[in-house]
Amino acid sequence: MPTYHPQLTADGQLKHLLSIDGLSRAHIERLLEAADPFVSVGDREVKKVPLLRGKSVFNLFFENSTRTRTTFEIAAKRLSADVINLNIGASSTAKGESLLDTLANLVAMNADMFVVRHSESGAPFLIAQHAKSGVAVINAGDGRHAHPTQALLDMYTIRHYKKSFHNLSVAIVGDILHSRVARSGIHALTTLGCPDVRVIGPKTLIPTDVHRMGVSVHHDMARGLEGCDVVMMLRLQNERMNGALLPSAHEFFKSYGLTAQKLARAKPNAIVMHPGPMNRGVEIDSPIADGQQSVILPQVTFGIAVRMAVMASVVGA
Ligand code: CP
Repeated sequence: MPTYHPQLTADGQLKHLLSIDGLSRAHIERLLEAADPFVSVGDREVKKVPLLRGKSVFNLFFENSTRTRTTFEIAAKRLSADVINLNIGASSTAKGESLLDTLANLVAMNADMFVVRHSESGAPFLIAQHAKSGVAVINAGDGRHAHPTQALLDMYTIRHYKKSFHNLSVAIVGDILHSRVARSGIHALTTLGCPDVRVIGPKTLIPTDVHRMGVSVHHDMARGLEGCDVVMMLRLQNERMNGALLPSAHEFFKSYGLTAQKLARAKPNAIVMHPGPMNRGVEIDSPIADGQQSVILPQVTFGIAVRMAVMASVVGA
C-alpha cells in the first residue's frame, strides 16, 4: 500500500523529487538502476538520448551552485530537452515579483519541469504544491532541509565502489547541523539498509536529536572513523551559521579536518567523498582530496547519470 507524499502519485510513482524522506528502498534502488545505462552516454561521440525530446526544463537557481546547476543542465541536454537557465539576478524576482508569480509566468510558457535551488527550506515543496498537473519539480537543494539528487549520486558512488550497503560503515563528518547533504544522505543510507551510519563533529554542529535518524554520534574524529568503509566530508556552512559555533577554521581543521593520520583509522580501502564545494585546509587536507582514496570527482561525473535518471523518472520516460 503506497503511502501519501506530495512527490508521489496515488499509485506510488515519482512525479516530483522533493526529498529522500518519503521514498522507499525500492524507489531509491530503481533510480540507481535507472542511472546505470546513462553513465555510458557520457562516453559516446554523440552524448544524447531522445527521452526528453520536446520537453522544456527550467533551471531556477536562487542560490549559488557550480556542480548541481551544471550537471542538471548537462543531464537535461543529454536527454534532448530544451533547457532554460533563468538568470535570477536579472529576472523580475529582483524587482519584487513573488516566487509563485514567477512560476506562474514560466508555466504559461509551457514549462514541463522545474529544477529548483533555494536558500529557504521548503521552497520546492511550495512550488510543487502550486505547479500545474504534469509539471515536475526537482529539488536541487533547499536551505538546510534536503538535497535529494546529491544523496542519490552519493549512493550511486558508494554502490559503484562498495557494491552493497548491507555491511558498510559510513562516517559523515563536519557541519551536520546546517547540512542538507547530511540529512538526505542519512535518510538514503538507512533506507538502503546500511547498518552503521556515524556522524562526527563538534557538539555545536550536530543536531541534538540526530540519533533519532538511526545514526551514532561521535565527537572524537579518530575514534569515529575506526574501521569505516566510507568517509563523507562536509563543508562548513558558514552562510547558515548564526553566531560563533566554532573557535576558528584552523581549530576546526585540527580536530575535524581529514588528514592522512586520521584517515589511517578507517579501513585501508575506505573511499573519501565530499559533495563540494570543498575548502582545502578547513575540512580536508589537499593530499587526501587529491589522493588515491578520493572519489570526489567521480561523484560529480556520476551525478550527471543520476540526474538523467531522476528527470526521466519524473516524466515517466
Ligand atoms: N554539491 C553541491 O550541491 O554543489 P554546488 O553547490 O556547487 O551545486
